[in-house]
Amino acid sequence: MRKKVTVIGAGNVGATAAMRVAEKGLADVILVDVLEGVPAGKALDLAEAAPIEKHDCRIVGCTNEYLQAAGSDIVIITAGIPRKPGMSRDDLLSTNMGIMKTVVKEVAAVAPDAILIVVSNPLDAMCHVAYEESGFPKERVIGMAGVLDSARFRAFIAMELDVSVENIHAFVLGGHGDTMVPISRYSTVAGIPVTELIPADRLASIEKRTREGGAEIVGLLKTGSAFYAPASGAVEMAEAILKDKKKILPCAAYLQGEYGIQNLFVGVPVKLGEKGVEKIIEIKLNEDEKKALHQSAESVRKLVEDMKRLAK
Ligand SMILES: NC(=O)c1ccc[n+]([C@@H]2O[C@H](COP(=O)([O-])OP(=O)(O)OC[C@H]3O[C@@H](n4cnc5c(N)ncnc54)[C@H](O)[C@@H]3O)[C@@H](O)[C@H]2O)c1
Repeated sequence: MRKKVTVIGAGNVGATAAMRVAEKGLADVILVDVLEGVPAGKALDLAEAAPIEKHDCRIVGCTNEYLQAAGSDIVIITAGIPRKPGMSRDDLLSTNMGIMKTVVKEVAAVAPDAILIVVSNPLDAMCHVAYEESGFPKERVIGMAGVLDSARFRAFIAMELDVSVENIHAFVLGGHGDTMVPISRYSTVAGIPVTELIPADRLASIEKRTREGGAEIVGLLKTGSAFYAPASGAVEMAEAILKDKKKILPCAAYLQGEYGIQNLFVGVPVKLGEKGVEKIIEIKLNEDEKKALHQSAESVRKLVEDMKRLAK
């Protein structure tokens, strides 16, 4: 059976994710957007690259046509507006909440067994909307942020030490915002704790750059936000699920008591396999790390409460 991945939102993140899914040969791709012509045009363009890129994945683009998404194994949701300079992710809340509700209702109707990978911002709050609107079990609603934030942290550590990015393992936990928590203590370079290789003050500035990684790119692009690395993050998660890899990745997952956090989507290490979130991995945190994670969770809770007020 051919696998099917639907990508909602054929903008920067969505189209790049579609390209990566196809070029890795992971699945057929359906690209959906509200815009006329754009998803069909980008899908055709990607299909015409297939002979050169050497894959046989079928790519179809459509406008508001959800029937094409029927039977999807995975739906990656990138629909929404991105930030502009001076905006925080939270400024996107009310617009993207409305878009997420519409999209998820359509998806749940045609692909009731799919696993949702949410990308739209503010990420953790949008996971709540997707969870509530879909009625899917918590294992099948997962947010992409930790993979991206950790990749940024890993890239900066590699630049600092002038070593291969492949040698670096690192974790960023918490909500996808300014309160995210890079965990240096569990970050390693070829198995060596990074805390033994980089002085504390340098490490603190790398952590800060990681927390502000999204804003750094928004400041440079001026017309939108990052999309190459975010698309890579979503597709790494999709690949782990499609291939049932049981890969441990930091993702936004619905916590019910884990890490002392109740009924909230927050970024933590999870095991991803064919069922979605197959396990939430609880790592031991010290008091400072715990405090930072709980602070981050509280800022997610505040957004969820804001959404309830907006919905009234
Ligand atoms: N989680 C993360 O780490 C992360 C990283 C980067 C971007 N993002 C978020 O992802 C989202 C997309 O970013 P982008 O750079 O691709 O933006 P973009 O503007 O390039 O693309 C968004 C697309 O969504 C489409 N869209 C809007 N409403 C829709 C609807 N109801 N149905 C279908 N499509 C709809 C738009 O027409 C547009 O093509 C933004 O909210 C951004 O903040 C999240």
